[in-house]
Amino acid sequence: MTRPPATPDPDPHAVAAAARALGAGQLVILPTETVYGLAADAANPDAVAAIFEAKGRPRFNPLIAHVADLAAARRIAVLDDRAEQLAAAFWPGPLTLVLPVREGAGVCDLARAGLDTVAVRVPAHPVIRAVLQAFGGAVAAPSANRSGRPSPTTLADAVSETGAAAALALNGGACDVGVESTVVGLLEGPPQWLRAGGLERARIEALIGPLAEAGADARRTPGRLVAHYAPDAPVRINASAARPGEVYLSFGTGPETASDRLSLSETGDVREAAQRLFRLLRAADRRAPTAIAVAPIPDTGLGEAINDRLSRAAGKVG
Ligand code: TXA
Ligand code: MG
Repeated sequence: MTRPPATPDPDPHAVAAAARALGAGQLVILPTETVYGLAADAANPDAVAAIFEAKGRPRFNPLIAHVADLAAARRIAVLDDRAEQLAAAFWPGPLTLVLPVREGAGVCDLARAGLDTVAVRVPAHPVIRAVLQAFGGAVAAPSANRSGRPSPTTLADAVSETGAAAALALNGGACDVGVESTVVGLLEGPPQWLRAGGLERARIEALIGPLAEAGADARRTPGRLVAHYAPDAPVRINASAARPGEVYLSFGTGPETASDRLSLSETGDVREAAQRLFRLLRAADRRAPTAIAVAPIPDTGLGEAINDRLSRAAGKVG
């Protein structure tokens, strides 16, 4: 018996229906390689307003415009040499570039929270790629969670978060990367590190040199003002063991004392831990623990994104 592919091939009927729904101003849940997104036509302010409504998202926090390919990215944004280099190396993939916007070119003001910049990404998942190709325009899509909650990495989690607002939800299996895209700002001055995510910092710096920390400029880093990624139970990070009543998320071969233990990665692989992170936070939550204790995670590679999400979930940042 052959194993089914981890990522199902896009069903052409579902893809066509999704493109039609987007064109009609409806919301659609779509899988990406990072997390599931709640998508709308980026040019349609009413549809984009419905995203903010469904997520309970503050309107000062702009959305990412997803496009089918580099040519489509060039139609909505201005790419300098650094942007072209990163796009050539990492698109399609888990990298979002914040760039000067081309006004009136398909991403409405509300999607950008009124900024003169636009966040652009070419996702790698075959289902959203097929929908973007069929639809033709840019698609605004934040993670499909309600604002402040962990991002969904399965169809079921996405539907339970924002399914009520969506006309349609497309299945793409469990997300491969598991944390959101890395966000880099390429505006005037040095490249800016805006969000750790699915593409490791070192791979970006190897290409365009050191990234500047974003600092506290709210105009450039609006997402940093928002509390994030929190399950219902409190989160305790860098925990070497569980206390009574806690669920423990272990990394590597941790202490065997915890009776209620979920493993982020038995082998201590940060990539696997990223893939499982949000799903296990949700699974831990369902056990209604006094807290979710999480083992220390090394800050290397995707560990940087994991630690960013965990410290925000624990209320230590933002
Ligand atoms: O992997 C991902 O990026 C997923 C999937 C669905 O593509 N999307 C996602 O979107 O994580 P969201 O809305 O949850 O996060 C977008 C981040 C926010 O932190 C937002 O503040 C930032 O990108 N952002 C969007 N536009 C921006 C802009 N013009 N300037 C600075 N930051 C921006
Ligand atoms: Mg999000």
